[in-house]
Amino acid sequence: MQALVLIGGFGTRLRPVTYDLPKQLIPIAGKPMLYHALDLLPREVDRAVFATGYKADVIAEYVRAHPHPRLAIRTVPEAEPLGTGGGMRNAGDGIGDPFVLLNSDVISDVNVTALLAFHRERQAYGTMYLHEVEDVRPYGVAALDARDRIERFVEKPEPADAPSRWINAGVHVWAESVLEQIPRGRPVSFEREIVPGILDRGVYGFRSHGYWEDAGTPERLLHAQRLLFDGGRGGASPLPSGASGTGPVAVGRGVSADGGSFGPYVTLSDGVSVRAGAHVENSVLLEGAVVGAGATVRNSIIGPNFEIPPGRHVLDAVLANARPP
Ligand code: GTP
Repeated sequence: MQALVLIGGFGTRLRPVTYDLPKQLIPIAGKPMLYHALDLLPREVDRAVFATGYKADVIAEYVRAHPHPRLAIRTVPEAEPLGTGGGMRNAGDGIGDPFVLLNSDVISDVNVTALLAFHRERQAYGTMYLHEVEDVRPYGVAALDARDRIERFVEKPEPADAPSRWINAGVHVWAESVLEQIPRGRPVSFEREIVPGILDRGVYGFRSHGYWEDAGTPERLLHAQRLLFDGGRGGASPLPSGASGTGPVAVGRGVSADGGSFGPYVTLSDGVSVRAGAHVENSVLLEGAVVGAGATVRNSIIGPNFEIPPGRHVLDAVLANARPP
């Protein structure tokens, strides 16, 4: 079985880091959020097609340099952003029946084996994993009948128009023929333009009660990192040698932190340096970032090779050397 993975969006809310790096490659709990999303795929999925948009070349290079231990990955770039449906159509030739559709910035513990079993048991045309939230406005919302069949689907509704609090959580199973419903060669929103018109073919909602986060903002990304560590899915490692404090901390290669200290929930990518007397907690530091002596970093995302001067206090920030193109 194959998975079609949607990898687009400009990551505007994670700038300036995302001027250079697509948000899906920002590491949380030790590895890029994209690779955490791939971890959801069960054994029967052995191939993945990446529908890539923004920074497609950076994704392709990352995949080449970091082959997935289990999945054979093919990337299919878009010349211009085609939206979710357009991306599916552009990359989906030969995807097989059924296939898993996966958003690339979803952090959750949904059981995709159970999702597939549910899909088969209902002989569904499509099955969408649903998560319950308080504020549905940024999401697609599903109304279900007593057998969990989706009767209505509204993308990004005003609260008064929201048919429930169950939202599209970004993991689906679809019959291959769904792709034929999508026009080729132009931007298409799968959720707005296609899903409402195919509900009568038998589209079901699989309600899941575990954790879920859409890691599109700094706060949400750091929350996703905490969920991963707490759920045992983070790459927690011992503190770097000579450092003190509390984990969980994910430590890359060549990290130096002699005399530094850590609070919980930190990712230190390869080559990060945390100098004596510096403190880091609830943060992500990308490759080669430097935290100067006596500086503190809390609730922040620090881009590659960015240097925080000695003694500086950084709170709730996204910092990077990258500039707008
Ligand atoms: P916001 O939700 O507004 O933050 O933006 P988003 O880009 O994440 O949009 P959305 O939730 O609709 O995206 C769902 C999935 O589709 C995500 O995994 C996106 O990365 C991906 N995606 C969005 N637009 C495109 C696109 O034009 N092409 C491709 N290939 N994927 C896309």
